[in-house]
Amino acid sequence: MTKVRVDNLMEKVVSLCKRRGFVFPGSEIYGGLSNSWDYGPLGVELKNNIKNLWWKRFVRSREDMVGLDASLLMNPKVWNASGHLKEFSDPLVECKQCHMRFRINDTWSDEIWWNLARKLENAKVVEKEGLVQEVLKECPSCGAKKKFAVPKQFNLMFKTFIGSAEDRASEAYFRPETAQGIFVNFKNVLDTTRKKLPFGIAQIGKAFRNEITPGNFIFRTREFEQMEIEYFICEKDWEKYFEYWLSEMRSWIEELGINLEKIHEYEHPQRDLSHYSRRTVDFEYDFPFGRKELYGLAYRTDFDLKNHEKASGENLKYRDPESGEEFWPHVIEPSLGVDRTVLAVMLDAYDDSNSERMVLRLKPELAPYKAAIFPLLANKPELVKAARKIYDDLRRDFNVAWDDRGNIGKRYFSQDEIGTPVCITIDFDSLDGSTGSPQGKNTVTVRYRDTAKQDRIKIDKLKEYLGEKLD
Ligand code: GAP
Repeated sequence: MTKVRVDNLMEKVVSLCKRRGFVFPGSEIYGGLSNSWDYGPLGVELKNNIKNLWWKRFVRSREDMVGLDASLLMNPKVWNASGHLKEFSDPLVECKQCHMRFRINDTWSDEIWWNLARKLENAKVVEKEGLVQEVLKECPSCGAKKKFAVPKQFNLMFKTFIGSAEDRASEAYFRPETAQGIFVNFKNVLDTTRKKLPFGIAQIGKAFRNEITPGNFIFRTREFEQMEIEYFICEKDWEKYFEYWLSEMRSWIEELGINLEKIHEYEHPQRDLSHYSRRTVDFEYDFPFGRKELYGLAYRTDFDLKNHEKASGENLKYRDPESGEEFWPHVIEPSLGVDRTVLAVMLDAYDDSNSERMVLRLKPELAPYKAAIFPLLANKPELVKAARKIYDDLRRDFNVAWDDRGNIGKRYFSQDEIGTPVCITIDFDSLDGSTGSPQGKNTVTVRYRDTAKQDRIKIDKLKEYLGEKLD
């Protein structure tokens, strides 16, 4: 479907999300909480549809995959062993004039940050401040010249305390990635499922990062949701499975209905790799605010299992059933953000190229409502009764909407805007023993979102139709 790109797309999508109940500002009645967002009645349906589609595709339909749902709070030793306490930080610089803090590699280019980092590493303490002013020069917020403090590494993990005492011994962290829940349960899963390599453990859940510069709506937040797979393999096969997961991720993006022309694969240079990764490819999407990471695929080697074994003393090796050899499996990790998926899907589906109606062209599988049911006229009890019967019956199997307000045209536009693939109208012809045309008896009008064309469909075929076409 060709559509003309709209101006101010981001503003339009944010406004639609608020107006129609996809996403609300968090704690809004108290003036909000910086960059926190709540999913409303339609947003939660869209989000659940994305998660269910992912789970069905990558867990249920595969023999080599099992699921997991681990705790958000984990023993702090986990974060020591995983390297997060030491390494999971962003470089931060503060302007001494306005006291704004900036995540350097977001605010300036990667090149600038790497040059500065290299210089700082080799500089004496007294030289450091001068070097910073030379490279960063001007504050992007207040414009002050040469007022920066020496950058610091800022750890992104959210700290909390377990129990009533707020001391060192009770410190804990909310997980910054779901992945570690999988690694610490590796032995439990292996013992209970007897899976053989290669196999994967999948998990969907919240992760928390104290981001320095959250923003761009639900793109970067401090609390977000991930869908992650740790795919365990023999070391010798890592290149093969890396390619395999690249192609699985491409076809997942295609399944979401996202325009592949807006997707770009970015190979991380060695210097940018996370502390655990030997190769990372990001799937970037052309967001209205620039080309940014949507998902990541990393080769984590045996880094995590090896370090958890060393730190915990538990044997986390895999024993090959044929050779009896024991080793730490290596890991390929497709890591996907749920919220970034919601954002990319909404942006991609937004179409106001036709001045008469705005259409959210979501894939039917993702649409919050599969269908909307209307009685032609709200003041004719026999129509309302017949329409209610159909609505109640469909509702058992599908998420369907009811609308009897205003005229039919307005109801269509209202459903187009939230991406409902079909609208079903019950009119006099639909009624048993109707005075309408004999062919029309026991049928309803089905009107399609994408084409605005209409069909008559037998009432007793509706469920089958919705099941085949929309789920
Ligand atoms: N376990 C690997 C890992 O967490 P990551 O690249 O840091 O890797 C994976 O995160 C995905 O999680 C990203 O590609 C993105 O979709 C999502 N994500 C990361 N930080 C986020 C944030 N602050 N807000 C929303 N989504 C985020």
